[in-house]
Amino acid sequence: MDNIYRPYLMRVTAIKDETPDVRTLRLEFQDEAVRQSFRFRTGQFGEYSVFGAGECVFCISSPETCTDYIECSFKLMGKVTTALRQVEVGDTIGFRGPYGNWFPLDELQGKNMVFAGGGIGMAPIRSVFQTCLDRREEFGDLLLINGARSVADLVYKAEMEEWAKREDVTVVKTVDPGGEDESWDGKVGFVPTVVEELAPSPENAVAITCGPPIMIKFMLPVLDRLGFQPEQIITTLENKMKCGLGKCGRCNIGGVYVCKDGPVFTAAQLAQLPADF
Ligand SMILES: Cc1cc2nc3c(=O)[nH]c(=O)nc-3n(C[C@H](O)[C@H](O)[C@H](O)COP(=O)(O)OP(=O)(O)OC[C@H]3O[C@@H](n4cnc5c(N)ncnc54)[C@H](O)[C@@H]3O)c2cc1C
Ligand code: FES
Repeated sequence: MDNIYRPYLMRVTAIKDETPDVRTLRLEFQDEAVRQSFRFRTGQFGEYSVFGAGECVFCISSPETCTDYIECSFKLMGKVTTALRQVEVGDTIGFRGPYGNWFPLDELQGKNMVFAGGGIGMAPIRSVFQTCLDRREEFGDLLLINGARSVADLVYKAEMEEWAKREDVTVVKTVDPGGEDESWDGKVGFVPTVVEELAPSPENAVAITCGPPIMIKFMLPVLDRLGFQPEQIITTLENKMKCGLGKCGRCNIGGVYVCKDGPVFTAAQLAQLPADF
């Protein structure tokens, strides 16, 4: 039997600095047969390894509709992300996955979709939003809100500009109060405040939100006030993980393994979990 921990070898084919501490890597499978057969669903994650340094978990930030390569966007945090910052185009890193569940887009056909991301929480939002763009006719209105602490910290700036040119989506960018500069032409306000101001209708709608815990903490009551039911709110958790496969017990909340049962949950499902997650 194959070793389930053996990573695929991936060539780094492009590197893009999104912010001073967030970088996007484009990765191509070195094994052509794997490249052709590999598929994932938006919301799934992988374990990315720098040989000699270790592994860490990132979502796949490219859309599931893209089959030539995958991308991840990572924020500089500690040991492995520091090592990952050293890799260059042409280098080889490891990838195992895809793991976990995904955003249930097939069940959301015809819905109006609200996407709200904060900071590096935009990485999974980018994947699901871009997937919806590529499957545009299957969904109703698409509203995207991307927030960051400051203008310099806003990820995917160039893509946001391209998306904003489309007439069939609404794209809003915002920075926290004090994070704006003289060139800023977006909103100033925390992501939940901006969502409340825009007041998307909950009718036939779903909100997908991802960001730091403090943002989610304020987002849930805002969506509640707007009339979104817990079943209409979807988020993705970033509990610490090791194996990614339901083997090590690092990520579990009670009997729920975030790496296998998640990381995508509705607010209704989260409400059933023990309070300390
Ligand atoms: C399902 C899932 C998806 C994720 N997707 C992304 C993504 O797309 N992009 C991204 O940048 N990060 C993502 N993360 C978080 C990422 O896994 C950690 O930031 C990364 O493992 C840090 O590795 P490191 O070795 O550099 O840091 P370490 O040396 O391990 O730790 C440095 C610091 O980071 C903190 N840290 C470590 N792991 C996490 C974590 N899971 N959540 C919060 N803080 C952590 C540690 O407490 C410590 O303070 C995701 C995590 C999960 C579980
Ligand atoms: S990360 Fe090992 S069980 Fe979830």
